[in-house]
Amino acid sequence: MWLFIIVFVGMLVMETIRCSAAGEKVAAAQAVAIAPSVPVEENRLVPRVENRDGYWVLREEFRAGINPAEKIKLEKDPMKFFVEKEIEKLAKIPFAEIDSSKAGKDDLDTRLKWLGLFHRRKHQYGRFMMRFKLPNGVTNSEQTRFLANCITKYGKDGCADLTTRQNWQIRGLVLEDVPAVFEGLERVGLSSLQSGMDNVRNPVGNPLAGIDPDEIVDTRPFCKALSDYIISSGKGNTSITNLPRKWNVCVVGTHDLFEHPHINDLAYMPATKDGVFGFNVLVGGFFSPKRCAEAVVMDAWVSEKDVVPLCKAVLETFRDLGARGNRQKTRMMWLIDELGIEEFRSEVEKRMPGGAVLQRAGKDLIDPNWKRRTFYGVHPQKQPGLNYIGLHVPVGRLQAPEMLELARIADEYGNGEIRITVEQNLILPNVPTEKVSELMKEPLLQTYSPNPTPFLANLVACTGSQFCGMAIAETKARSLQLVKELDETMECSRPLRLHFTGCPNTCAQVQVADLGFMGTMARDANKKPVEGFDIYIGGRIGADSHLGDIIQSGVPATDLLPVVQNLMIEHFGAKRKA
Ligand SMILES: *[C@@H]1O[C@H](CO)[C@@H](O)[C@H](O)[C@H]1NC(C)=O
Ligand code: SF4
Repeated sequence: MWLFIIVFVGMLVMETIRCSAAGEKVAAAQAVAIAPSVPVEENRLVPRVENRDGYWVLREEFRAGINPAEKIKLEKDPMKFFVEKEIEKLAKIPFAEIDSSKAGKDDLDTRLKWLGLFHRRKHQYGRFMMRFKLPNGVTNSEQTRFLANCITKYGKDGCADLTTRQNWQIRGLVLEDVPAVFEGLERVGLSSLQSGMDNVRNPVGNPLAGIDPDEIVDTRPFCKALSDYIISSGKGNTSITNLPRKWNVCVVGTHDLFEHPHINDLAYMPATKDGVFGFNVLVGGFFSPKRCAEAVVMDAWVSEKDVVPLCKAVLETFRDLGARGNRQKTRMMWLIDELGIEEFRSEVEKRMPGGAVLQRAGKDLIDPNWKRRTFYGVHPQKQPGLNYIGLHVPVGRLQAPEMLELARIADEYGNGEIRITVEQNLILPNVPTEKVSELMKEPLLQTYSPNPTPFLANLVACTGSQFCGMAIAETKARSLQLVKELDETMECSRPLRLHFTGCPNTCAQVQVADLGFMGTMARDANKKPVEGFDIYIGGRIGADSHLGDIIQSGVPATDLLPVVQNLMIEHFGAKRKA
């Protein structure tokens, strides 16, 4: 028996851009209503995983051709380290002893990522990066102080990052300290669970949620509810920790689209249906070395109370049906392509709790003509007499002493709350107007400027070769230097977003930048191999979002300045300073 896919041509227009690791010319394909060329076999809709003693396991008949990560999950479910407290035992074993067996290496380098622990084998052997869940990017002075104190003891090996998912990351951790860190995290209301590998990442929302005079909806309760579901409020939800690949979700609350819905696997867009407030649904957006896809319309609307149930239904569809072969083809969009969007939607509908019928899309509330705001500096909140202050954190990197200062300032001038943006910057909310001028005199604001120079203001850089084993190029120090030189020599009447990423994994999302730089090996004038960059141009965010294309490949890092100056003049109307 065959099930045939019905596709309403013209119902959706999807733009897929394939980007290649080799840096070849990017081909943009306009495709209308993707229909799978082969009809979906009934057998294809059989769930591939099943619940065994509380853990979800890939069934025997679906194990042919699976990728190495799937094998590691089959050998031992990584969540056992948390649920069955095995981490406490592991932390007592000498590192070298763990690292002497294949199973031990898999624990260190792969399974611990389910607990938010990333071993930096190549650049910081024996050290871990730790990542959290921080729904909507809302943190506070107590958490900031705790994280600062965690890294202080690691000296120059310890530091913290703000991530492109509105999140903290800390670096330098050694395994024996992990059990104590877990205890502390619980005390300050943080969790690091399910933050790496085949898990749901931090739910992103409007960084100005609840304080924004122009917001459509406060995204915080939705992000919190999603996060509580995803990690079972800190206990770990083993029903959704064996996904085919990582998975991102965001809830949009502003016309500015600060949340970047187009690059999330699931995005909730504010919309009304028959006068009731709720969300339209976008699915499938992602970046990877081999392919970058923009989210597509699922033609569905959910009320506020169905935000979590819909997330659950989409996630379970992906978990049950997603491919687990070639790792480059396991993100959710590949499943959507394979099934076709209508069949995918019907599988989601089947998984709605209580067999609820999924409504068709409602009326979008996003204003397409809205001009994206900037949040640097002082802005009045929706609460009279209170302000939020946007602060720039150069390439999102912080050291413990600055974090402690930040915590003090948040307590002294605000209510202790701190927000993180997906551009790796900070927002200090709830500052009474009469305290603003004192706050502006704080020495910390020399480092985290409320008024950064134009090109520095919108710089994003991934970790790069300092700590990341995948990196082909150094990003943070280099981009800061370049941007400093650009700010000294160039001026431009519009803001320019410059993104630096160390390799084709594009964590810094070069495809959404005005000018994006992706690490690659290049050759210098003497044909010697050197670090270099492929340059992307024309990425746009917001209502008319668009993924950028490569304009120049293999530019040696040392030649960047003049090349970038020329691109800025040619494409963005920049001028050299007199
Ligand atoms: C964990 O996830 C499963 C699968 O989506 C869901 O049915 C369950 O309700 C979740 N648990 C909690 C406590 O949210
Ligand atoms: S883009 Fe590459 S180098 Fe940069 S953080 Fe991601 S994996 Fe590492």
